[in-house]
Amino acid sequence: MTAHSITVRQPSPAEAPPSVGPPIDASVDRTLKLIAAGSASGSSCAPALDSAPWMLDAGPAGSLPEPGYGPGASQDDPLPGAAPRQGELPASYREATEEELHERIRSAKTELGDRVVVLGHFYQRDEVVAHADFVGDSFQLAKAARTRPRAEAIVFCGVHFMAETADLLSTPEQSVILPNLAAGCSMADMADLDSVTDCWEQLEEIYGTAPDAAGRAPVIPVTYMNSSAALKGFVGRHGGIVCTSSNAAQVLEWAFERGQRVLFFPDQHLGRNTAKAMGIPLEQMPLWNPRKPLGGSTEEELMQATVLLWHGFCSVHKRFTVAQIEKARADFPDVHVMVHPECPMPVVDAADSSGSTDFIVKAIEAAPAGSTFAIGTEINLVQRLAAQYPQHTIFCLDPVICPCSTMYRIHPGYLAWALESLLDGEIVNQITVSEDVAEPARLALERMLSVVPAGAGR
Ligand code: 13P
Ligand code: SF4
Repeated sequence: MTAHSITVRQPSPAEAPPSVGPPIDASVDRTLKLIAAGSASGSSCAPALDSAPWMLDAGPAGSLPEPGYGPGASQDDPLPGAAPRQGELPASYREATEEELHERIRSAKTELGDRVVVLGHFYQRDEVVAHADFVGDSFQLAKAARTRPRAEAIVFCGVHFMAETADLLSTPEQSVILPNLAAGCSMADMADLDSVTDCWEQLEEIYGTAPDAAGRAPVIPVTYMNSSAALKGFVGRHGGIVCTSSNAAQVLEWAFERGQRVLFFPDQHLGRNTAKAMGIPLEQMPLWNPRKPLGGSTEEELMQATVLLWHGFCSVHKRFTVAQIEKARADFPDVHVMVHPECPMPVVDAADSSGSTDFIVKAIEAAPAGSTFAIGTEINLVQRLAAQYPQHTIFCLDPVICPCSTMYRIHPGYLAWALESLLDGEIVNQITVSEDVAEPARLALERMLSVVPAGAGR
């Protein structure tokens, strides 16, 4: 099973608008509207999910008194004060119908031709995926941008850290655009440069800075791809490395060749699940809570640590439970339960397999017809897979529709605005990583690529 292949999707100019084309069968947006209208059974975690995300934007059209991540799985997570907000989307996009937006995007893309490449993450709504030149996971998409060096603009339909990574890996002449600036990631926001630096200084006091007899540093910092470029730069400057959910074990092995222990951020679950599978005992994995002195551990506990886990999590994957897995098994005795490693450890332990979004896609592609899968990952991907593979039974472990709040902020209205602005010679919502951060961040990414070359199997 390969982990780095990618779906290249080139919609034909004659493709039907979403209201009549096949993607609608998979559309979470359409399902939410049907539920709201009482024409379909089911429930969502937030009634506002069936309205357009510009209701959450700053400016006259905004109606949200308290800025937050918005409806969806991260709705109760605190939004950092400095998080970017999206300004008002022009009325001609807010007022357009779904079909009009589809046609405007299609026509702008045709006119722009090779000047633009549109990237769509697996978790994007189908109405956006329909226009993506490449659909894949975060790292695949960042690399996909490189295959179009003639494209002067890369429109990244995903979240902020993904657009930053695309900027790090693209050419200096290319502009990366995030159609909605409020599309951050609540997990990435759980670790910021100040609190990681503060943690690092405390660890240096406890462990010192001198290598051991084998030349291994006291601690190697490892950041998940789902983190800001500032943190990728931090690990680059401190001898550390980036990982993704498909190469975390190989990256940890690299780190243990160079260090006595690892500081892993921001996702505690990916860190714990990966380290546990490598045989590291749970008692050697203290949780570092940045709001507590010494992260909430004693000095003795920290001296025993092999992997220090940051107190971060993904609110989408935190929703999956062992009880949901038990119910799936009771309902479908032959079910294969497959979850993302951002799920809590008891869920990963109870599942039949776990892996990155690309692992999940590939496993379904390779399965014999008539297979049954219960999936623990974001609903847009699960529902799309269910529509793409009607020969299988595929369903989400969580019966409540609760998409990623921030992926949801990218709507065809913003994509149409970004593309038509390019036609008018204007680059909106450009994501740029400053050169002082970019240099060490690229180093940390390159270290990852030296361990697991792009395109290598898992
Ligand atoms: P991928 O790296 O698999 O694209 O996952 C990104 C993500 O946000 C998972 O929650
Ligand atoms: Fe972040 Fe989770 Fe959304 Fe991925 S699914 S972008 S980790 S909040």
